[in-house]
Amino acid sequence: MKRTFLLLVVVAVAGVFWSQQSSSANGTSAKTVTFSKNVAPIFNAKCAECHRPGEGSPFSTLAYKDVRPWARSIREKVTQKTMPPWHADPHYGTWANDRRLTPEEIETIKTWVEQGAPEGNPKDLPPMPKFTEGWTIGKPDIVIPMPEAFTLEASGPDEYQYFEVDPGFKEDVYVQSAEARPDNRKIVHHIIAFIRPPVAATAAAKPRPNLSKEELAALRAKMEKESPVYREGFLVRTKQEAPVCDDGCNDPKGGRLGRADRGSEMENGQLLAGYAPGMNQAVWEPGTVKKIPAGSKILFQMHYSKVAGSVQKDRSSIGLVLAKSEPKKLVHTMGISNNAFLIPAGADNHKVTACWTAQNDIHIINFMPHMHLRGKAVEYKAIYPDGKTEILLNVPNYDFSWQTAYYLKEQKVIPKGTRIMVTGYFDNSTRNKFNPDPTKIVRYGEPTYDEMMIGWMDYTQDNELAKQSVASK
Ligand code: HEC
Repeated sequence: MKRTFLLLVVVAVAGVFWSQQSSSANGTSAKTVTFSKNVAPIFNAKCAECHRPGEGSPFSTLAYKDVRPWARSIREKVTQKTMPPWHADPHYGTWANDRRLTPEEIETIKTWVEQGAPEGNPKDLPPMPKFTEGWTIGKPDIVIPMPEAFTLEASGPDEYQYFEVDPGFKEDVYVQSAEARPDNRKIVHHIIAFIRPPVAATAAAKPRPNLSKEELAALRAKMEKESPVYREGFLVRTKQEAPVCDDGCNDPKGGRLGRADRGSEMENGQLLAGYAPGMNQAVWEPGTVKKIPAGSKILFQMHYSKVAGSVQKDRSSIGLVLAKSEPKKLVHTMGISNNAFLIPAGADNHKVTACWTAQNDIHIINFMPHMHLRGKAVEYKAIYPDGKTEILLNVPNYDFSWQTAYYLKEQKVIPKGTRIMVTGYFDNSTRNKFNPDPTKIVRYGEPTYDEMMIGWMDYTQDNELAKQSVASK
């Protein structure tokens, strides 16, 4: 009750603030608003990151002639706040990469379009923003491509493909920033690159006992029968009858299925870089670095969507900018995840939780929630050792199209023993227009018609010297 009341007060206060903002902004509408003078600075700062040639958005905002045909659509998207894409509830957390427009900026764009979207005097244009062609992190010191071009067939469902590369690192490598760069944007939906340290690599390659063909077949059949997961083509899915746990935070196994499927192994591996619409590149502050231990392999997880009727090729790459100064802090990446949930057919607000407890004092750098098409909302909450709680990130309207990483403006200090609770809500009803099939019971799996619930998070550990520690899990 009390919480609801508080929320109402907050909303009411925000409402008053909002109307004051917009009425003062209305005062400017008498002036002529031009692209060159008033609008280009906003577009350069808030749109051009994605809306420039080669970035996979439908048009460039850099030049008047390219923007003009989109003016009405721009007004619509900007006033509805669907552009720039941003889904964090402004009441919690302050974000370094907050893309939202201010009420004044929205008003300027709206007025400009309503006045016929005039160009104005090109002499008023701000300097052209500088972007690095190709790589957003700047010229990488090391580029690691997929081992060879992959050929994607013209029909069938989405594919997840894995490619392992040995970059041949003889010493530990300290990475200041990393970027996953799609080669063929028509088919690359997302890329996630993982570091596989030598231990994990050898464990995976453990020699098999010497068995006869029949014994091997029987063993394989038994394992397949007992496993909670199965393969559908290249994709790992959870069996419908596998044990169920929605509330991972109140479960001894934490909402994890016994044998880790490939996906869950990697949630707790080291994420190196990712590419997906709306994802910012991994750029840490100088001295805060990601370590790639000597002898590690790099694993590409590629999610491909097909272009009907056309066979396509792709050879995407990872670019690394190495640390230029002495590494001080190591970046750890945690995927707080539940893979044992079951979403009933038609459920419109199905709740799933996952928890993780900090074993050290840590500083959180960013959050990246990951769900699929039925993902509706997600929240990260800290439960401190003294019992106090704090919402760290709230995404009330999760949208699978945008895999946004939310970078904290100031790193969040979390004491040892704090539980981080991730709560996801799923809409498997007909009201969810992205729902592939509301009649299906949905479980965890790699295809987008299955679901995921992963609360990714980058952090550093306070008591750790970058050069001495080994990459922890
Ligand atoms: C994080 C990347 C990103 C940012 C920042 C961004 N956009 Fe977009 N925008 C896209 C992508 C990708 C699409 C195409 C997919 C879609 O429509 O959802 C798009 C679509 C649009 C469309 C719709 C085009 C159509 O097909 O109708 C408009 C209009 C638009 N953006 C305007 C803007 C404006 C104006 C800004 C800045 C104030 C902006 N966007 C900021 C990535 C971005």
